[in-house]
Amino acid sequence: MKNPVGQNVLEIVAEPQTELPVEKLIIQGGTRLNGTVSVGGAKNAALPVMTSFLLAGGKSRLDRVPALNDVKTLSELLALLGPEVDFTNGSVTIDATNITSHIAPYKLVSRMRASFYVLGPLLARLGRAKVSLPGGCAWGPRPVNLHLAGLEALGAEIEIEHGYVVAKAKRLVGKPFHFDVSSVGATAQLMMAATLAKGTTVLTNSACEPEIGALAECLRQMGARIEGDGTRTVRIEGVDSLAPVTYENIPDRIEAGTFLIAGAMGGGEVVVDHIRPDHLDALTEMLTRVGASVSVLEDAVLVKGVDRPKAVDVTTDIYPGYPTDLQAQAIALLSIADGTSRITDTIYTDRFAHVPELRRLGADIEMTANVAAVKGVPKLQGAYVRSKDLRASAALILAAIVAEGETHVTHIHHLDRGYEQIEDKLRGLGVTVERMEDPNGEDA
Ligand code: UD1
Repeated sequence: MKNPVGQNVLEIVAEPQTELPVEKLIIQGGTRLNGTVSVGGAKNAALPVMTSFLLAGGKSRLDRVPALNDVKTLSELLALLGPEVDFTNGSVTIDATNITSHIAPYKLVSRMRASFYVLGPLLARLGRAKVSLPGGCAWGPRPVNLHLAGLEALGAEIEIEHGYVVAKAKRLVGKPFHFDVSSVGATAQLMMAATLAKGTTVLTNSACEPEIGALAECLRQMGARIEGDGTRTVRIEGVDSLAPVTYENIPDRIEAGTFLIAGAMGGGEVVVDHIRPDHLDALTEMLTRVGASVSVLEDAVLVKGVDRPKAVDVTTDIYPGYPTDLQAQAIALLSIADGTSRITDTIYTDRFAHVPELRRLGADIEMTANVAAVKGVPKLQGAYVRSKDLRASAALILAAIVAEGETHVTHIHHLDRGYEQIEDKLRGLGVTVERMEDPNGEDA
């Protein structure tokens, strides 16, 4: 799809706007981690679930919501559309009785890609929507062609005008739709839109990540007729209306995984609790291969770390494969392994912004296309490093914990998009960490 000046509009990369304070974390390395850390609600489930509340007139509530900038951005956007939104004490209440606008502006959608989720629900509820194209992110273009093709298959008329998706449909009509690529976002988008369509939608090659299961369960509790979530074929029989709901979010498997990797690196004993261990099988299998001892409990995992992990190969894949959102953290872990590991990202082939920064800490990493060859070194060394995106920041924190000396991780607003109270949680495991303003973002 081309815009009037012939650019491929689905590939225009926008620099996300940030009005957030520039801060850094200063971490003293060399701590042996010990203790218990509790994981919060999943950011990537909270975002589509909150958006799905647009589908029902009345007041819905989501519990166990992490206080993260992404959640605040979405709350701001939803409020701009008319609903009353309240986010207090870990619960978001959204009264979507009145939706007064169908426009999601560039300012908010460009700040966070998941804002694009409002497209399907607005279209299903109001019959029209005008939503800014999200642009790309730090690791590449991240297209939305499947979101648009899927909605068109359900009968929406879609135009791209001045960087906006303008969509209309009197009522969407259930149809079969096949995803060429398995996409979490597009599956969530179409599932939401199809709940109020006339007739039955069958989505094939759907994503089956746990966040899709959470969204499907919430929608069912609102009265939607959905089956097959958690498999590659999801069937949605449209209904005339949905009712408000109170729903409890699932635990954040990526936050949990990050702390499990920290435990495996720190040489001590860490319990990561309030989680769903079954959502983390690919990670716990990898940690076992590196030599960490992993005990799976009912809603927790205990990991006993090793000083020098064994080198292993890791390839990211769609769920239940190893998550791309834990790729950067795996590279941090394997940077101190005994031997050479190959880490391949098949989902986001450009997502390696952490590599040059890890090299500044002494990691020995060679990149060939989407494969990082990581030759483990016995020790990393503290340095100034810069956060480039959310999970890259997490990898730098992990490396800093085991590095000799002090590490300053700058531009941590990226980290704050996905990790709630990270300093408190790290301190609870014995890490000496301090947050400081860093107005120049470089203060070296
Ligand atoms: C979600 C997660 C993100 C995670 C990613 C993959 C949220 C808010 N974010 O992102 O943290 O890294 O899943 O697990 O849940 N694609 C297309 N066309 C589209 C959409 C996607 O080609 O219209 C491709 C992407 O370029 C990528 C692959 O599909 O190669 C998977 O992306 P997708 O699952 O859609 O990622 P997100 O939902 O954006």
